[in-house]
Amino acid sequence: MPVDESRLSGFFKLSVEERRAKVAQLANLSQNDVDALANHGELSEDAADRMIENVIGTMSHPVGVATNFVIDGSAYLIPFCVEESSVVAAASNMAKRCLIKGGFHTSNDKPVMIGQIQVLGLEDTEAAGEAILTAKYELMAMCNSLPSTMVKLGGGCKDIQVRHIDSMSGRMLIIHLLVDTRDAMGANAVNTMAERISDKVEEITGGRVHLRILSNLASNRLARVEAVFTPEEISEDGSRENGSKIITGILEAHHFAMADPYRAATHNKGVMNAISAVALACGQDWRAIEAGCHAWAAVETGTYTSMTRWHRDDDGNLVGRIATPMAVGIVGGASKVHPVARANLAILGVESAQELAGIMAAAGLAQNIGAMRALSTSGIQAGHMKLHARNMAVSAGAIGDEIERVAALVNSQSGPVTQQLVKDTLKSIRG
Ligand code: MEV
Repeated sequence: MPVDESRLSGFFKLSVEERRAKVAQLANLSQNDVDALANHGELSEDAADRMIENVIGTMSHPVGVATNFVIDGSAYLIPFCVEESSVVAAASNMAKRCLIKGGFHTSNDKPVMIGQIQVLGLEDTEAAGEAILTAKYELMAMCNSLPSTMVKLGGGCKDIQVRHIDSMSGRMLIIHLLVDTRDAMGANAVNTMAERISDKVEEITGGRVHLRILSNLASNRLARVEAVFTPEEISEDGSRENGSKIITGILEAHHFAMADPYRAATHNKGVMNAISAVALACGQDWRAIEAGCHAWAAVETGTYTSMTRWHRDDDGNLVGRIATPMAVGIVGGASKVHPVARANLAILGVESAQELAGIMAAAGLAQNIGAMRALSTSGIQAGHMKLHARNMAVSAGAIGDEIERVAALVNSQSGPVTQQLVKDTLKSIRG
């Protein structure tokens, strides 16, 4: 279950412990979840040693909660695991600004992943492809004969498609297995199916099966989100005039990203600031998600461009949309093994992978408008450096209450906050 209320006024002013208690109460967290968050998120050494090879330790990142999100009529507190200041604040701020128009609305594809089988050494790839399509139900039955909960729950291989590719190694037949992975990300199941049918594929085609692996371009598993921002809500002073001006600036920024891959890379990095942060917090394979989102941003239009789309509607409102691959799971993998990932999924209260996909895409859309609004008004550095001042104080050697004192002093002056200024300020308070 999502929470009853995600607008937590004054939340940022609480201590870490008070915030944790508030979220625990709202999300009805178990004591184990609260303890996992409070123990700085470290895995036990045993658990870490089971996850990867040559383990020598573990490493923490902060988990912050983005507030104000309403998605499909339900309120969510969204955990972000990220080292960059301003990210959580910007997402929360933008989520608040679209509340008046109902927050975010999603419509997500079914959780269908693609498994690829590469077939080489064919004299006639077209004929081989036809033969695969003729045998498709037999091949699908082989895939689905795995002893699998996913299949029992109504998932499994739902279709087989073929593609022909001209490459530097000659013409290839590429077989796509379309697998409904239900609430799992599904990489293991898809890879197992692709390997399971490869002998049969060789028998049918007379070719040689080479790679058998899932595609991270999960183009059949898009999360789609829309949000509407009125000029008044997007403005700095509540006025329609100021808001309309800001919307014009945001659209100019968006058109820049649509037209220029150099800008699109940075614009999309901003989108992924949220998507990857929620992915990491919830124990997802964020590299797979990153790969899918960036690849789709190029494949959809044939050139690398913005992951988001923005326009002004007839009433002068700013309308934002994102439709991007979102291969996530709430069963299996780190989402079940990592105690903090489990706690973060409990904060979200999601009941399906599709629900999680929509939340992550909504967070990405919010992050994108936050960055474009800042860039087209005061610039990114003002807010960024204000929040960053504490880190800079620590880098300059500040300890204990020196950290807050140095940050407050450098933030109270009007010029840019540089590392040299922070160093000088620390020196001056030390007398
Ligand atoms: C910084 O982490 C993200 C931004 O660069 C995104 C953008 O430029 O749109 C601010």
